[in-house]
Parts: sequence; structure tokens; C-alpha cells
Amino acid sequence: MVICKSPAELEKMHRAGLIVWGALEKMRAMVRPGISTKDLDDFAEKYAVEHHARPAFKGYRGYPGSVCTSINKEVVHGIPSASRKLREGDILSLDFGVELDGYYADAALTVPVGKVAPEREKLLRVTRESLEHAIEKVRPGNRLGDVSAAVQKWVEENGYSVVREFVGHGIGTKMHEEPQVPNYGSPGQGPRLQEGMVIAIEPMVNSGGPGVRVLDDDWTAVTADGSDSAHFEHTVAVTSKGPWILTRPKEATGPCW
Ligand code: MF3
Ligand code: CO
Repeated sequence: MVICKSPAELEKMHRAGLIVWGALEKMRAMVRPGISTKDLDDFAEKYAVEHHARPAFKGYRGYPGSVCTSINKEVVHGIPSASRKLREGDILSLDFGVELDGYYADAALTVPVGKVAPEREKLLRVTRESLEHAIEKVRPGNRLGDVSAAVQKWVEENGYSVVREFVGHGIGTKMHEEPQVPNYGSPGQGPRLQEGMVIAIEPMVNSGGPGVRVLDDDWTAVTADGSDSAHFEHTVAVTSKGPWILTRPKEATGPCW
């Protein structure tokens, strides 16, 4: 069942979303060669607690971190580690979520470490743009397939592939609610979007083929062919005035990350 949220509930989710956004922007600014992914995780956990929120990933199905830190061919769910130091030219996905006052928010972005190859810059841009095209479809009366298809079309037109094994999701008083939000699909298909629905849209895009496998740590998903992967995510509400990105300030304009 898809649960619609009241305006007061959306405000609560936005409060959670601003903490997620604030932590991710601070982490983005910390990213440089030599810093470890554990340093970023420690920061985010502290940031959440200082803002009276709970890092939502920590302990979720036994996940050991507060942030997912996925580098280069790692698609999602990379586990922070003190021995994993960022290197010039890497691309790093930072995925973070919190619970505040019973409501969840979830977001992610992929950032370059120092100067990166132009092909990697392009992968980041196209993946971010695929999220922006999807967000544009988040309007009452549209269908979920319109959102999914918008991601897939932009990604494939640019010669990349969308991952099938992981999907976006409804979000609210739980981190994962119905519906599932695939990054592939057909326009005009799937449930109709209604005011008060909230979905976490999270394109995972590979520069090579779409296949992934999970490492022996049981978490880290990597591309099957070793190609690069990027990941962007926002928590977005359906409103009569159009898409409301709950994981950024209301006054923000321009690129979604
Ligand atoms: N953004 C991811 C998701 O929505 C984060 C979950 S990671 C986990 O599923 F560790 F919490 F599982
Ligand atoms: Co998510």
C-alpha cells in the first residue's frame, strides 16, 4: 500500500531532509585525496546526533556504517573503512539517511576526488541529470513509469546502463515503503502519483554494462565488468505545485546537487 503524507508530515520529512542535505554538503567539502571513508562516516554520524537525528543506515539489516561510501566500480553500499583512503581521480558516492521525530529522509550524490578524468566527469553529470529529469515527472496524475522511464531514457541516450538489482523506494515513517521505484520502465505504466506521495529516486548508472555483483563483505555492490558507476538520490514529495525535493533547502534552485 502506498501511504500518502499530510502537509504536516511532509514538513517533518523536510526537517529530516535538511539534516541529510547538510551532512552531505559538509562531506562533499571534506572530500580530498588522503581522507578515509571512515573519517566521512564519523563526521556524518556526529552531525546527525548533534541535530537530534538518528543515522538511519546504522544497524539496518546489520549494516555497520552510517554512510554508504562507494568508490569507482562500487555501485552502492560500500562500507566505510579507516584503511580506505581516497585518491586523486576517484569518484565517490556518498549515501546518507536519517530518522528525525519518526520520519525518514534519504539522499546521495557522487563527487570527484580532486581532478578526475573527463569520462568520469561526464558519468557524474549524466547521472545527476537523469535524476533531474525523473524529478520533473513527480506531479499528481503522472505515473510511476514516467519517473522510471525518464531516468532510463537519459542514461541510455548517453551510452550508459541503469542497474536493475537495486531500486528507489517510497519513504516516510519507514526508510523503505511501497512503491519500488525502478530506474527503468515505460511511460504511462504503473501506479498514478498522488499528492502526498513521497519517493526516494536513486539512479545507479554504470559506464559499461548493467550487471552487478556483491562482494564477500555481503554489502558492497560492484559492476560485473569493472566499469565505473555513479549514484544520485533525493527524497521527493508529490504536491499540487509540482515536485518538492525534501532533501534540500526550499529556496535552492539550479542543479539538484
Ligand atoms: N539509499 C539506500 C537505500 O535506500 C541506503 C540503504 S543502505 C543500508 O536503500 F545500509 F541502510 F541498507
Ligand atoms: Co534510498
